[in-house]
Amino acid sequence: MELKDHKVILRAFKNTDAIILAELCNNKKIWDNLRDYIPYPYTESNARDFIEYCHSEQPQVTFAIEYNGEFAGSIGLIRQSDVYKLTAEIGYWLGETFWGKGIATNSVNLLTEYGFTELRLVRIYSGVFDFNKPSQRVLEKAGFKLECIFEKSVIKNDKICDEYRYGLIKK
Ligand SMILES: CC(C)(COP(=O)(O)OP(=O)(O)OC[C@H]1O[C@@H](n2cnc3c(N)ncnc32)[C@H](O)[C@@H]1OP(=O)(O)O)[C@@H](O)C(=O)NCCC(=O)NCCS
Repeated sequence: MELKDHKVILRAFKNTDAIILAELCNNKKIWDNLRDYIPYPYTESNARDFIEYCHSEQPQVTFAIEYNGEFAGSIGLIRQSDVYKLTAEIGYWLGETFWGKGIATNSVNLLTEYGFTELRLVRIYSGVFDFNKPSQRVLEKAGFKLECIFEKSVIKNDKICDEYRYGLIKK
């Protein structure tokens, strides 16, 4: 599955992405904004395991982000279960050299459209740490609404912080 607009292509991971995936993702500035289950340091072995896992997805919900033909990062949906099965959480990161070019916003737009049409989701949300202003801005630009703030719900790097919950509903 390939999703594209004038700026970015979202495509399946290839085994050959492992080296560059590890190189870009092995960055504390990225990890500081992500959940703790994501490894840091991020090795080539972590990258290979992740790519193998992505290949088992049915339907595909995790994509490599490509910009000007280069691997730039990753974006994915996590479908919720039980009565929340028409809801998914969206998550993403970009290699630092690719920040500030609008790539994340375009990628979120492409993946939310795919989620609503192909996966028939009705709601997509994201939980962002309070200090992550770039990601909050990305979600606002992609039409998400700040729905609530879960005060002191997160502990990251031994510091307690709030989580900003953004939501987008299928039109
Ligand atoms: C968050 C991230 C994906 C953003 O990617 P990006 O492609 O640079 O985002 P975009 O260029 O589409 O938009 C970034 C916006 O944030 C704004 N921004 C950047 N730094 C900012 C700051 N300190 N305060 C407020 N806004 C800021 C930019 O100006 C831009 O908004 P604008 O278009 O109105 O000027 C990227 O920084 C990243 O990978 N960070 C680490 C991982 C992460 O945070 N993932 C998300 C977890 S919820």
